[in-house]
Amino acid sequence: MDKLVIEGGVALKGEVRISGAKNAALPILCASILSDEPLRVSNVPHLRDVTTMLGLLAQMGIAVSVDDRLGVELNAQALDNPEAPYELVKTMRASVLVLGPLLARCGKARVSLPGGCAIGLRPVDQHLKALEAMGATIAIEHGYMQATAPRLKGARIIMDLVTVTGTENIMMAATLADGQTVIENAAREPEVVDLANCLKAMGAKIKGAGGDVIKIVGVPRLHAATYRVMPDRIETGTFLAAAAATGGEVRLRDTRASILDAVLEKLREAGAQIESADDCINLHMPNGLRSVSLRTAPYPAFPTDMQAQFMALNSVATGTALMTETIFENRFMHVQELRRLGARIEVEGNTAVVSGAGHLDGATVMATDLRASASLVIAGLIARGETTIERVYHLDRGYESIEEKLSRLGARISRVR
Ligand code: UD1
Repeated sequence: MDKLVIEGGVALKGEVRISGAKNAALPILCASILSDEPLRVSNVPHLRDVTTMLGLLAQMGIAVSVDDRLGVELNAQALDNPEAPYELVKTMRASVLVLGPLLARCGKARVSLPGGCAIGLRPVDQHLKALEAMGATIAIEHGYMQATAPRLKGARIIMDLVTVTGTENIMMAATLADGQTVIENAAREPEVVDLANCLKAMGAKIKGAGGDVIKIVGVPRLHAATYRVMPDRIETGTFLAAAAATGGEVRLRDTRASILDAVLEKLREAGAQIESADDCINLHMPNGLRSVSLRTAPYPAFPTDMQAQFMALNSVATGTALMTETIFENRFMHVQELRRLGARIEVEGNTAVVSGAGHLDGATVMATDLRASASLVIAGLIARGETTIERVYHLDRGYESIEEKLSRLGARISRVR
């Protein structure tokens, strides 16, 4: 298993390009299921989760071709196996995004239940409830969701809680349903908007994406389209947090400030000076790093996917921060590892109290999930001496060439295979 070795203490300086968003690319690739004509997607990030998704779509009978310029073409004309096996779903929960499109296009689907994952239970009851309201019959058999629906019917769906992939699954299913579907209490994440824009390019009729009520009027079929994936706001936030924590100065290209306002606000509170233009963000740290308290919540509030990275930053900032996690019940697994580097963190229920320790010292730590890994990388960049991060395969699921990008910013980081 690969490890990352970081020699800390270097302030990040320079310019890097931000990749396409993982969490937009995954549902957009699934949208190809909805049409028998090709979908061409550009700015697809080169990540393990994307490779897993392409493998999943290919085994369904979808023709997949990948070019050397981050472009993917998918043609689902010969789709004949509407199934997502356990072996793939267990490695990537987002596989559940094939359920809605398969039901809509094929009238049936067999998708493994995702089960628990490291950061919490993460059930899919809201996905199922909504599809049943649209006329699907769903049975759970031998660990699989066995769903059928000759043709889905539009329905009014009130989500009990805000779910990102739940909203995306239902929005995709509704594009081919009979009549109008209204999703209330919908997720407002920019990735939901990106998927809606791709579906619209394919001929879907969708209004309100980005708000909490989305209306979709079903059409008989969707057609060929070309679509460019939005920039990754979590990768953007991670590089900015790393730059702020190390007292650096960076320029991030091919990204947009408007998709991460809550994160930028917290970075400013931490002492960063940030300027943005159309497609780039500049950050520098004129003064010292200050602690920032925060509470994760659905978009546009502070994202749960940035909580761990800010905990690394708070570990060395001046002051004490209260960090409350409201989305996932077990998303503090990085705390133990950060403590091994000298961080002073107490956890009480879903709140972590982080007292700035002034500095961290390098040690060997273990990555437990995707964003926890990113926080350990930031901690390693700040720490004195050498930090070894084990199990970096988590990081490869969601960050494209992270060590190359960090090296370009001056970090002393290498991969040991
Ligand atoms: C997506 C993101 C993930 C991010 C998360 C929250 C993708 C591929 N992943 O995950 O990076 O951390 O949003 O912003 O886009 N829930 C239920 N029942 C359901 C669905 C969800 O109880 O049917 C709960 C979950 O357990 C969780 C909360 O709702 O506590 C939010 O989860 P959700 O928004 O669905 O997360 P994902 O879409 O899986």
